[in-house]
Amino acid sequence: MSEVESLLVPLEPVSPAHTVDEVSELLLHPDYQRFLCLPVVDQGKPLGVISRNEMQKIYMSMYGRDLYGKKSVTQFMNSAAVVVDMQHPMEQISRYVTSNIKFPITEDFILTRNGEYCGLGHVVDLLKVMENKLTRQSEEISRAYRELKASQSQLIQSEKMASLGQMVAGVAHEINTPLGYVKNNVSLAQDVFVQLKALVGSYDALLALLLGGDANEATVGRQLEMIEQQRNDFWSVYPQDEIDNLFGDTLFGVNQISEIVLNLKNFSRLDQAAVDEVNLNQTIESTLVIAKNVLKNRVELIKQYGNVPAVKCSPSQINQVFLNLLTNAAQAMDGMGKILIRTWADERYVYASVQDTGKGIAKENLQKIFDPFFTTKPVGEGTGLGLSIVFKIIESHKGFIRVASEVGKGTRFIVALPLAKDSRHANQSELDAAQV
Ligand SMILES: Nc1ncnc2c1ncn2[C@@H]1O[C@H](COP(=O)(O)OP(=O)(O)OP(=O)(O)O)[C@@H](O)[C@H]1O
Ligand SMILES: [Mg+2]
Repeated sequence: MSEVESLLVPLEPVSPAHTVDEVSELLLHPDYQRFLCLPVVDQGKPLGVISRNEMQKIYMSMYGRDLYGKKSVTQFMNSAAVVVDMQHPMEQISRYVTSNIKFPITEDFILTRNGEYCGLGHVVDLLKVMENKLTRQSEEISRAYRELKASQSQLIQSEKMASLGQMVAGVAHEINTPLGYVKNNVSLAQDVFVQLKALVGSYDALLALLLGGDANEATVGRQLEMIEQQRNDFWSVYPQDEIDNLFGDTLFGVNQISEIVLNLKNFSRLDQAAVDEVNLNQTIESTLVIAKNVLKNRVELIKQYGNVPAVKCSPSQINQVFLNLLTNAAQAMDGMGKILIRTWADERYVYASVQDTGKGIAKENLQKIFDPFFTTKPVGEGTGLGLSIVFKIIESHKGFIRVASEVGKGTRFIVALPLAKDSRHANQSELDAAQV
C-alpha cells in the first residue's frame, strides 16, 4: 500500500437528502467516531463536509434541534471542504492539506480519484505518515553523512599514502646515491684484500722456508724477491692515500645513509610519543631532507632560522604541514625559483614562513584554498587536500595559518604555533582527531 493509499478510509458518505438529525445520529456510530466530520457526496461528487463542531453549534443553540433538525444537511455543511486527488504525490497532498485546513482543526479532508469520491482522510494519519517520512529522511541523511565522512577520511588517507609514496620515492633516491658508491668501494676493498692475502701468503711461505732449516740462500733470496715484487705491485696499484680515501668515502656514504634514515625516523617519529617538545628549525631541517627530491634542481633554498624556543606538538604532523607547504611552493614554480624559509618568535607563538616566487594565487581563490578538494591542478595531479590537512593540523595545535599572495610574484604562508607553555590545551585526543 502506498503512502497516499494508507491515508484513505473508504467511509460511507452522507447524501444531500440526509437531515441534520440523521447525521447527528450517524456521528455517534462507532465507524464514524474517530472522524471530525462526515463527507457529503452526491452521485459520486463530493459536495462538502459537515463537522461535529458545526453540529454542536446547532444543538447548543436554543431550540436548535427543533428549528434545524429536519432540514437538509447541505444547509449547514462546509462546501469549501479540503479535497485532494489521491493521484498527487504525498508531499503535494500534505502541503495542500496543511495550508488549507483551518486551525483549530475541526474537519478532516476528502480523498478523490479523478474527481470521484473515494473516502475520508484523517488529519492525524497524515501527520503520522509525514512524521515517519521525516524520520526516514533524517535517517537517510545521517547515513549519507556517515558515508560521506567515511569516504572523505578514506580520501585523506589515500592522499597521505600518495604523499608517502612520493616521499618514499625521494628517500629511496637519496639513499641510492651513497649506497651506489659504498657498494663500489666495498668490492674494491675486496680486491685489495685479495692482493693482501696473496702477499701474506708469500710471507707465510718465507717464514716456512726459514723455520724449516734446510732452506738455502738462493731459495730464500728468490722468495724475498717475489715478496718485494708483490709489495711494489700492490702499492703501485693501491697507493696508501687511495686506500685511506676508499675507507673514508665508504664511511662517509654509510654516515649519509644513516643520517637519511635518522631524519626519516624523525619525520615519522615512529619511535616516539606523538606529542613532544621540538625546535621548529630542526623539524623543518628534517622535512627538507625528505622533501629534497621535490625541490631539487628547480629551487634555490634560502633559510633564515631565528633563535626560536621549543613548541609542544606532534612532530610527525608538523612535518606533514611543512612537507605540504614546500611541495605546493615547488609545484607553483614553472622554471627555476626561490623558496625562503624563515622562523621567528614572539612571547606567545613561534612562527615559520614559507615564501615562494611561484605563480601566486588568484584573489578569488584565496578564500578557497583551505577547503577540502579545492585544487587548480589537473586531475590526477592534485587532490586538493594538502592545505585542508595543514589547516586541520594547525587548528588542532591551537595555532593559526595565514596566506598572502600576488599573482605572478609569489606566495607566502605563515604558520604560528603556540609556545610550549601556551600549548597546554593541545591535548592528545585533539591531535588524534586531526590525524583523521
Ligand atoms: N604556494 C602556492 N602557490 C600557488 N598556489 C598555491 C600554493 N599553495 C597552494 N596553492 C593553491 O591552492 C590549491 C590547493 O592546495 P592544496 O595543497 O590543498 O591542494 P593541491 O596542491 O592542489 O593538491 P594536493 O596537495 O592534494 O596534491 C592548489 O591547487 C593551488 O591552486
Ligand atoms: Mg598540495
